[in-house]
Amino acid sequence: MVTSSFYCFLPLLVLTISCTQNHSLFANGDMSLIQKTCKTTKFYDLCVSSLESNSTSSEADTKGLAIIMARYAMANATNTNSFLTSNVLVKNMTSDNLMKKVLKQCADRYSAAGSSLQDSVKDLESELYDYAYMHVMAVADYANACHNAFKMYPNLVYPHEISAREEGLKRICDVLMGIIDSLGS
Ligand SMILES: *[C@@H]1O[C@H](CO)[C@@H](O)[C@H](O)[C@H]1NC(C)=O
Ligand SMILES: *[C@@H]1O[C@H](CO)[C@@H](O)[C@H](O)[C@H]1NC(C)=O
Ligand SMILES: *[C@@H]1O[C@H](CO)[C@@H](O)[C@H](O)[C@H]1NC(C)=O
Ligand SMILES: *[C@@H]1O[C@H](CO)[C@@H](O)[C@H](O)[C@H]1NC(C)=O
Repeated sequence: MVTSSFYCFLPLLVLTISCTQNHSLFANGDMSLIQKTCKTTKFYDLCVSSLESNSTSSEADTKGLAIIMARYAMANATNTNSFLTSNVLVKNMTSDNLMKKVLKQCADRYSAAGSSLQDSVKDLESELYDYAYMHVMAVADYANACHNAFKMYPNLVYPHEISAREEGLKRICDVLMGIIDSLGS
């Protein structure tokens, strides 16, 4: 009895599976790789919006998406380096010179973070995923080094503008590491 009812339902089962597959293959179109890739990362929304900001993402494979995300992270680090170099955070205070000195240290760290991300782009292009991962991991260390420079001087407040950028860049790098993880396996 069990066997015959199984064969009765088998065609229905096959039909159901093929309809479901057709749906996922065509109805979602080119969105599915971005969504599928981003689901493996810690910050899905950030991942999708960052990738969608570049029109070439829709035609990229997973490796291509990793490279686009690495370039996105690089732009973010470079932007923070420019922000720190511009000295807009220096106010008319007695600690101006100290602030300038620490901001210069921070600018150097974010410049190094940008270089490390540039290296990760090259690693990804050569499919050296372990090295790419290491170069992205280093970014958090550079960002922490900036934060620590402020901690050395209790009179200096770590500005919110830098703290927000630190968090933003770390999130992008977390997403990037998630994508690289799915490439390596
Ligand atoms: C499969 O998807 C295509 C494109 O959306 C549609 O034209 C076709 O009718 C679908 N086939 C089935 C069996 O659902
Ligand atoms: C979009 O991605 C491509 C491929 O990685 C890259 O060459 C291009 O510079 C990116 N565009 C922007 C605006 O970042
Ligand atoms: C700091 O600001 C005060 C008042 O705005 C001004 O009188 C003083 O000259 C400024 N000092 C410097 C070094 O700019
Ligand atoms: C990248 O950096 C900018 C500052 O230039 C920041 O406002 C933005 O939130 C960052 N991007 C992301 C996705 O966190």
